[in-house]
Amino acid sequence: MNNKNPLGLKKIHHVEFFVGNAKQAEFYYRNAFGFSRVAYSGLETGNRDATSYVLRQNRVNFILTTPLHEKTFASEHLKLHGDGVRDIAFQVEDCDYAFNEAVKRGAKVFQEPRDISDENGTIRYAAIHTYGDTIHSLISYQGNAHGKSVSSGSTAAQPASEYVYNGAFLPHFAPSEIKGKEVGIQLIDHIVGNVELGKMNHWADFYSNVLGFHRYITFDDKDISTEYSALMSIVMSDGGHNIKFPINEPAEGKGGKSQIQEYIDYYKSAGVQHVALLCKDILKTVDKLQKNGVEFLRVPDTYYEEIPERVGEIDENIEDLKRLGLLVDRDDEGYLLQIFTKPVEDRPTVFYEILQRKGCKGFGKGNFKALFVSIEEEQRRRGNL
Ligand code: FE2
Repeated sequence: MNNKNPLGLKKIHHVEFFVGNAKQAEFYYRNAFGFSRVAYSGLETGNRDATSYVLRQNRVNFILTTPLHEKTFASEHLKLHGDGVRDIAFQVEDCDYAFNEAVKRGAKVFQEPRDISDENGTIRYAAIHTYGDTIHSLISYQGNAHGKSVSSGSTAAQPASEYVYNGAFLPHFAPSEIKGKEVGIQLIDHIVGNVELGKMNHWADFYSNVLGFHRYITFDDKDISTEYSALMSIVMSDGGHNIKFPINEPAEGKGGKSQIQEYIDYYKSAGVQHVALLCKDILKTVDKLQKNGVEFLRVPDTYYEEIPERVGEIDENIEDLKRLGLLVDRDDEGYLLQIFTKPVEDRPTVFYEILQRKGCKGFGKGNFKALFVSIEEEQRRRGNL
């Protein structure tokens, strides 16, 4: 661990969603997005509180969880927020170390470090709060590398050698395999948080102070403004492990409601706006997703007439981009192709981005305007502009 990675983050372990009906959501992610089911936790496995399905596609792991009883934490979360992201979980080198360091640096505790075990082994688990009701779990498979420097109040950790886990996913998940028809989603590129007006810098500072991230790019309302709505955004990056968390806040538009405010009005707090999924051949991936029924935002056809001048030479045929509704943008190092789904639940909250990078490390700034006109059109149809 060093200053650049003070918590010893290794990667995003998984993203957990609380949803109203995990059984049906699992079917959607498997048949529409091409994930495979790999593990299950529920009544049959001794979980009396909730049902969870683990879905995997290459390096992306999602958990879909539905509470089975009222007045539980998860059911209150669901009642307030609707379907949404509860946890962006990190795998860390050493859970106790990461947790203690995070708390020392100002993180709010959600769960002190503890062992979670089943017959397949033990992991070490802790969690801290981030924006809204979202948490970051800190999971290690080989804890205690720093000796027994466990904070007082938590149970003493086992020796490192005992943190080995050989089960299907995490303790209390049983293997449950149903293969999906993979669409080529490879890994999570970035996860965007929407936060309340005036809170963007607060949360950017949180990622900087607590997790050691740096400010990668800042967009202000001049970059991201249309006739009606506006937003500001700071992209926080860990530098070493390609974990990027843009943070958006609403900005004053010319009389309309910012798309970020619409999200907050329906999610009832700050929360995850979109998860961007990286693929290697976006033409193939998006063609499959569309055939599977995933609904995407579209920009006007005139967008495609402007591509040659704005972006220059690209490998793809512009007619193919237009047919699929793909967007393209360039920076100094290359270009990217991207497309955004409509919200995947009834509240206008969480959606997905599918993207392919060809050298470009940006976020599609050149597409913001066309895209936001399209988002506003959807907002208008919902009566929320
Ligand atoms: Fe994005």
